[in-house]
Amino acid sequence: MGSPVASDERFVLDPALVEGLVNDFGTPLYVLDGDHLRARARRQVAAWPHGEVAYASKANSCLAVLRTVHSEGCAIDVASEGELRAALAAGVPASACRFHGNAKSSEEIDFALEVGVGKAIVDGDEELAAWADRRARLPILLRLAPGVDPVTHAKISTGQADTKFGFPLDRALDATQRALDLGLNLVGYHCHVGSQLLEPGAQIDGALAVVRTALSAKDRLGFGASHLNLGGGLGVRYMPQDEPLTVEEYSSRLAEAVFRELDGRIAPKLDMEPGRAMVAESGVTLYRVAAVKEAASGRVFVSVDGGMSDNPRPGLYGARYELRWPLARTSEMRTVTVSGKHCESDTLFADVPAPRDVRKGDFVQVLCTGAYNSSMASNYNRYPRPATVLMVKGRPELVQLRETWDQVLSRERLPEGL
Ligand code: LLP
Repeated sequence: MGSPVASDERFVLDPALVEGLVNDFGTPLYVLDGDHLRARARRQVAAWPHGEVAYASKANSCLAVLRTVHSEGCAIDVASEGELRAALAAGVPASACRFHGNAKSSEEIDFALEVGVGKAIVDGDEELAAWADRRARLPILLRLAPGVDPVTHAKISTGQADTKFGFPLDRALDATQRALDLGLNLVGYHCHVGSQLLEPGAQIDGALAVVRTALSAKDRLGFGASHLNLGGGLGVRYMPQDEPLTVEEYSSRLAEAVFRELDGRIAPKLDMEPGRAMVAESGVTLYRVAAVKEAASGRVFVSVDGGMSDNPRPGLYGARYELRWPLARTSEMRTVTVSGKHCESDTLFADVPAPRDVRKGDFVQVLCTGAYNSSMASNYNRYPRPATVLMVKGRPELVQLRETWDQVLSRERLPEGL
């Protein structure tokens, strides 16, 4: 028996490759390891034989990522028309896409039907009516808000009672009846309680609420759910003290709790939707140091050539990351604050160790940035979004181009005579 806690499996770029990569592709640079990602997807699919694994593409919707995980047997969870279009562009059939969103527009629903999306996860009353108006026959699941508050950052928990997502649990049977009355092809229920969960307690609580709903729908309405989707959430090792369970351990604890509750009374497929756990640890970001200065407070600021536009997570969620300093000249370290180049405090990594002689031109590698970095990047301060390189058997393939200045300004129009 191996340890239930995942060992440190994060991809770290070989320092010998750093100089070549930054010379060829510039900085900031997202680097993903294709073999790492493929192995992760394969492991996740193998660890969950109870139904499908749909990769939550909001974590990283780079086409190369979508194609890789789909080729390993994952369906794709898309939360917008844009993510759906990305999946199609990656060669994923629409039938393998699961369409999410709490405020789907008519245009998005029409597009999903036109291309033949495989399933929709319905978030509320208006959406039930919208699918029914179009006489949609695709399988739908009702998203439930199970009233579970996971121990994670408030901004990434979604399953609590006070949430915009899904039907409140006490309305689940009414919504079920309504979906059936409307002639929709209801197949089951969904919930997602939150993200960066190091153990599955909260996800189990959400899953049990979904199972109980399915059992009462069977008893009271005669509706037998054939699919229960338990959402995503498994966390990753951002910092050494983050100790996520292995995907196998997490999955088996979740499945065991669900099967115990089901007690053989119904036998739905159990689906799940991991995002972060699939791709975060496969990616790193490379920056170049632009300036080093000591403030009057005594704090040493190391400013790099990226920041909140390529990684908004420290600012949004207080996220912390581990750094490596490839090509460092000394192993003697001191504590610094790494900040970005944006015109606000833009602290990326506060109070982290850096080589004592760190200086302009040095490189820093940030671990575990494969999820929710590139997909959340912006053009704040009009910086072009970075490129992504996929390492394939140790060789770099450019899979997302760095934005050009023309692209940064491409949406602008100056009215005549202004
Ligand atoms: N399914 C649904 C319906 C979701 O809303 C999410 C994430 C997932 C699956 C995937 O969750 P994961 O396995 O990645 O935890 N931007 C935030 C994360 C927001 C997650 C939103 N929903 C961050 O950077 O931490």
